[in-house]
Amino acid sequence: MNNQAPIGVFDSGVGGLTVAREIMRQIPNEKIVYFGDTARVPYGSKSQFTIIRFVRQIVRFLETKDVKAIVVACNTASAYALETIEREIHIPIIGVVKPGARTAVAATENGRIGVIATDATIRSGMHTRYIQSLNPDLAVYGKACPLFVPLVEEGMLHDHVTEEIANRYLDELQKQDIDSLNLCCTHYTLMRTVI
Ligand code: DGL
Repeated sequence: MNNQAPIGVFDSGVGGLTVAREIMRQIPNEKIVYFGDTARVPYGSKSQFTIIRFVRQIVRFLETKDVKAIVVACNTASAYALETIEREIHIPIIGVVKPGARTAVAATENGRIGVIATDATIRSGMHTRYIQSLNPDLAVYGKACPLFVPLVEEGMLHDHVTEEIANRYLDELQKQDIDSLNLCCTHYTLMRTVI
């Protein structure tokens, strides 16, 4: 493996830039090739079959850039395609679901965790499975927030419409007495100040 080669990072759009920023902070000497699939965003409303197809295409593209490893900076793609794609390629490929689950388990004190994510990610049940595989006594409450992704892609982070939608989505979770909220979509991390 060529150590000077870049790391490939991808997401369905701009959300994965939060992951790229963190990689740059932690290992500043690494080069990064970022791919945001803004032509086909959102992934959250698509089927597993389609998401695997998109991820396979992106991975092939990144391989043409001679990347030495790939970070799937998208929870939806990690939940649906990581297991399939890691069997098909010969370089390390890392998703975001497992690290997110570990952080959520470490953060909760009352054992009640909220998970917000795309429709597809919530349907996959992946975050709940990982969290409960680390601690089966934890209660996990999931909520899909499909309107967040287009709002972020449109740059509407500080807008009363966004606040109103966030209140509606999160109201249900607040009633579950959660003490921590796991933002299981990289787009949502850009909304931290609103949520
Ligand atoms: N940012 C992605 C995630 O982490 C997906 C957003 C979308 O395309 O629906 O799940």
